[in-house]
Amino acid sequence: MIWRLAARATRLLPPELAQIAAVQALRYKIGPKPHLPELPVTVAGLKFSNPLGLAAGFDKNAACPEGALALGFGHVEVGTITPHPQPGNPRPRVFRLREDDAVINRYGFNSLGMEAVAANLARQEDTFRPVSSHRAGIIGINVGANKTSASPTQDYRVAVARLAPFADYITLNISSPNTPGLRNLQSEDNLRQLIAAGRDGLAEAGCSLPLFVKLSPDLDADAIAAIAEVAVGEKIDGLIATNTTVVRPVSLRSSNAVEGGGLSGAPLFEIATIVLAELAGHLSKIDTSSGSLENSRSNNTPPALIAAGGVASGWQAYAKILVGASLVQLYSGLALQGPNLPGSVVRELAALIKADGCHSIEQAKGQIPDAEKAIQHALHLAKTV
Ligand code: FNR
Repeated sequence: MIWRLAARATRLLPPELAQIAAVQALRYKIGPKPHLPELPVTVAGLKFSNPLGLAAGFDKNAACPEGALALGFGHVEVGTITPHPQPGNPRPRVFRLREDDAVINRYGFNSLGMEAVAANLARQEDTFRPVSSHRAGIIGINVGANKTSASPTQDYRVAVARLAPFADYITLNISSPNTPGLRNLQSEDNLRQLIAAGRDGLAEAGCSLPLFVKLSPDLDADAIAAIAEVAVGEKIDGLIATNTTVVRPVSLRSSNAVEGGGLSGAPLFEIATIVLAELAGHLSKIDTSSGSLENSRSNNTPPALIAAGGVASGWQAYAKILVGASLVQLYSGLALQGPNLPGSVVRELAALIKADGCHSIEQAKGQIPDAEKAIQHALHLAKTV
């Protein structure tokens, strides 16, 4: 009750201020601490206590990862962090679309920069460490390029090299619509160079961590197929699908829909689930073929899929898992609904998995490869449990 009231009060603040207040509250571990059912899943060798994660963008400077984990998330992805500090775009740069359960942001990677974030993480080391020792959950570090960088690809190497010692996994974010040219890094050749730069960064840090790449929902079918091939060929550990979209569905009703930037929340749910399903389809085909790609892999594990986009309930998280996701992230739902959301998503998800007769995330994963069918199944099941 108290957290519902707090969430309602926060919604009276302008959205950027509300986000700053939420980060401060979590820094001091103020928030609900739900007791949740066991829902473990292992991805890229990391053991997650449950599949739900806080997507990047909420805790951009790693101010409150532990407080965020305590809300019920199995992992928190901090960032996006750039090598050098940068202010991002002028304010206002984030907007609520109340009538649409959505958000538009054009922050443009406002970041304290990797040195300040490394100092933040070092200060917190007494209470949490990479998963090799005990900690409340998994911390991913999401990195990006500075807006004025002469060599964006090298920015990824530099940021990974500096921050990897504090992370359980690294995400290369090449899908923000708010840094000009960034999304070009998703093209085939650029992606190969980017992955090589990420690996060089890990080698420089002396860390062998899983490497994820975060993708845009605004990719056409050919681009998705090409990315799947590169991800398998280069042995990427995970693909996050998706970031925000520049598309404005005609269904949007809020006057803020005209704002520039990336759209997230409810209108992104189906769009991102379709991209996820397409990726899953390609990965399963590449992986099961006996072609050269398959033979070039030292292990046959395809990249894991991490879903993001419009999740604000257990059934939506379940739909993403049915399509092929191992992990599911959310952000906008938390901003719009408040801190009880992660606990309720995990509880509903556990109930739905059980209702389908499955005993684990792995068992449910990929059972309904068609996005529309998976969504219908999960929604229908949610009405019966
Ligand atoms: C984001 N997102 C994001 N992603 C990222 O990789 N780096 C970032 O810095 C940010 N920043 C950011 C700010 C705000 C205000 C929002 C709403 C989102 C994208 C986010 O991680 C996620 O991929 C999308 O928002 C889709 O998930 P939701 O929000 O629909 O659950």
